[in-house]
Amino acid sequence: MARITLRQLLDHAAAHDYAVPAFNMSNMEQGLAIMAAADATGSPVILQASRGARAYANDVVLAKLIDALVDIYPHIPVCMHLDHGNTLATCVTAIQHGFTSVMMDGSLMEDGTTPADYAYNVRVTRSVVEVAHAAGVSVEGELGVLGSLETGMGDQEDGHGATEKLSHAQLLTDPEEAERFVAETGVDALAVAMGTSHGAYKFTRQPDGDVLAMDVIEAIHSRLPDTHLVMHGSSSVPEALRLLINEYGGDIRPTWGVPLEEIRRGIRHGVRKVNIDTDLRLAATSAIRRTLVSAPSEFDPRKYLKPAMDSMKAQCVEKFEAFGTAGQAERIRARPLREMARAY
Ligand code: G3H
Ligand code: 13P
Ligand code: ZN
Repeated sequence: MARITLRQLLDHAAAHDYAVPAFNMSNMEQGLAIMAAADATGSPVILQASRGARAYANDVVLAKLIDALVDIYPHIPVCMHLDHGNTLATCVTAIQHGFTSVMMDGSLMEDGTTPADYAYNVRVTRSVVEVAHAAGVSVEGELGVLGSLETGMGDQEDGHGATEKLSHAQLLTDPEEAERFVAETGVDALAVAMGTSHGAYKFTRQPDGDVLAMDVIEAIHSRLPDTHLVMHGSSSVPEALRLLINEYGGDIRPTWGVPLEEIRRGIRHGVRKVNIDTDLRLAATSAIRRTLVSAPSEFDPRKYLKPAMDSMKAQCVEKFEAFGTAGQAERIRARPLREMARAY
């Protein structure tokens, strides 16, 4: 069994200058595709489930699915992570279902839409750290609110994300505050805000430093060289997938994502976890649309889900190779949770 904590995995990534993609999943096809890519490239992997994914798939199904994936690929270290937890309770129930890492996103209030103040964020994140670390489970916190520096709007995905117009002070994590936040909460990894947002519509043009403030990451890393930084909203939104979707009846307007080169720049400055959901959604949807339109008499779901898995796998392989994760799996021996608990 190669279930690993985020802490151990990111410590290894930091020691060897690479980052680990964290792929969102809510069904078997995503899980199989991600693991096939991890196996093909010899990469450790972070599988993450949002609250929406947990509600969609059911915690018991997700837990048993992860068990199965870990059994099929015992040589691949798998970190099972909760994405954007909003309360202590959400984090605890994730731990009960075998998650080895949880995110407490205290940048927003429990409703998942109202920006929170610093004191609330520290309080709620600290409470999760105390419980999770007692069990050896890792914790990711978030400081700063995800959203667009172009429009000032927070992002909204399935009801999660700020709904009000935000100032640049809210949209860019303050390096000095980040230093205090890590000291006051004890988080293992810190998600920071620098202009990325969830979903396909991140930037209306090729991003430059005005809309994607990678210098913020560099400033945070110089103050917190030993803290693992996390980039959310980091899909690249490949133009080829957008065009394919549109060619087969979809309607995705022109848009830009986060270039792989910018992510690699982040990796040189302390980014160790890179969150990706949208690119796999685009990969699956483009393949399914193409199959259904090209073979209109087809009605066996396996005929379009298999191409969807192949397309998702290709996206994952690209990220594993780009982030330096490929080849690292065999260099890691996962430590059990009780051992991690004793280390805190
Ligand atoms: O947090 C954003 C992720 O892309 C998860 O999205 O809430 O639609 O599952 P979701
Ligand atoms: P994308 O929407 O850019 O894939 O980001 C996903 C994410 O940050 C999940 O937490
Ligand atoms: Zn996110």
